[in-house]
Amino acid sequence: MSVMALSAAIVLAAGEGTRMRSNKPKVLHTFAGKTFLNRVMDSVAALEPDTLAVVVHFQAERVSEAARSYNEHVAIVNQDDIPGTGRAVQCAMAQLADQGQLNGPVLIAASDMPLLDSRTLRELVDFHSASGNGATVLTTILDDPTGYGRIIRDREGNVLRIVEQKDANRSELAVQEVNTSVYVFDAALLVQAIADLKSNNAQGEFYLTDALETARSAGKVGAFTAPDPLTVEGVNDRVQLSALSKTYNRRVCEHWMREGVTILDPETTWIEDDVQIGRDATILPGCFLQGHTVIGQDAVVGPYTTLIDAVIDDGATVERSRVQESHIGARTNIGPWTYLRPGNEFGEDAKAGAFVEMKKAHIGNGTKVPHLSYIGDAQLGEHTNIGGGTITANYDGVHKNRTVIGAGCHVGAGNLFVAPVEVGDNVTTGAGSVVRHAVPSDTMVYSENTQHNVEGWKPAWER
Ligand code: UD1
Ligand code: MG
Repeated sequence: MSVMALSAAIVLAAGEGTRMRSNKPKVLHTFAGKTFLNRVMDSVAALEPDTLAVVVHFQAERVSEAARSYNEHVAIVNQDDIPGTGRAVQCAMAQLADQGQLNGPVLIAASDMPLLDSRTLRELVDFHSASGNGATVLTTILDDPTGYGRIIRDREGNVLRIVEQKDANRSELAVQEVNTSVYVFDAALLVQAIADLKSNNAQGEFYLTDALETARSAGKVGAFTAPDPLTVEGVNDRVQLSALSKTYNRRVCEHWMREGVTILDPETTWIEDDVQIGRDATILPGCFLQGHTVIGQDAVVGPYTTLIDAVIDDGATVERSRVQESHIGARTNIGPWTYLRPGNEFGEDAKAGAFVEMKKAHIGNGTKVPHLSYIGDAQLGEHTNIGGGTITANYDGVHKNRTVIGAGCHVGAGNLFVAPVEVGDNVTTGAGSVVRHAVPSDTMVYSENTQHNVEGWKPAWER
């Protein structure tokens, strides 16, 4: 499908989002792992407008910073103190006109529709150009249209105007077709249509919706109904945020189930957009799969597991654990209750067990760290076993230092490796060893800790 080139796209992000009752602007709230702003910018940018503008006002610094860090080419428009979606577009068009003549269609989108997708936008722009409209509004039909602007049509079905909830009479309130706050205008017509907006309405604001009625006198005005109502659902408060998140997550889970993933309880399994899951993987209840996590075939994840940018290879298991930016090799078992901070690299058939914390640890094939350990800034060779309660003392108060332990080692329980320290292959260490100096291969090491028995001892309360 071809899309007529957009001369500009304007994202409206100047509002506070009062109904969120938040210290941060609504557009910086997250939906399935990405902010509202990033989501709408993503969808709009996919249409490759000549200019992508974001209108800011409430916490302008914070919002423009977020917009710029997401896309450095974005044009930031500062809306003045005059409120309203119409004013936002007036400010944007004034700034864009300063930068050069605008020709062709301009897309306008509010930023509180987290599921607005580029496909719907493309269809809207295509419809706009095919119908020869000067202005097209994206609409949807809702069982409960409360709160939205209503689309008012004449008897022939032509779009006449949009009336806001607070300005509508009884028969207008009964209309179920609503404005989504996404529009395409031809640039010249838009300039004309916003020139004389008035604020004589219930909210005392310059409504962009009024521009549609004005546009009618100078061009053809139409409406395009979003094929999938979910894509244009707006979020104004946290109740809607939760409801939409749940509906969307259900869809994501159903997608993966249809791809051959067993998800025992989609109600408690939260999967973000960029996650990949292999066939015959099983996701047990209470899991959060986030970021660019990749799960291999036949892997079992959960219950109660959080994976953030984790790579879990085929047949691995992760139970009741948190894994961040780490690679778990095939058939390796993690958990229960394992905490993997960023930078761990596991080979195949390895293990990290209960109450084990790791950070920047490289664990060789078949190597096991089964119980109660901290392994940080360390490298463990293949087929080594680490006794319970072993700690790598990697921090001397200034620097993080490395511990290297070779292949085929048997580390006794309760060992302390004071880094930097290096241990060769096939080394056995005694229980409670404190290893401060290098140990060559094929060596047994133990450190003195003299046991003293004081016989006939009575505890204080008996004395
Ligand atoms: C708006 C529409 C309404 C539509 C609804 C869809 C108007 C007058 N009303 O109402 O017809 O059904 O969206 O969700 O346009 N914004 C600015 N500057 C401002 C005010 C708002 O940039 O001065 C931005 C907001 O950040 C937001 C968008 O415009 O992204 C919409 O504002 P919001 O206050 O949510 O409008 P609604 O009351 O939802
Ligand atoms: Mg809104």
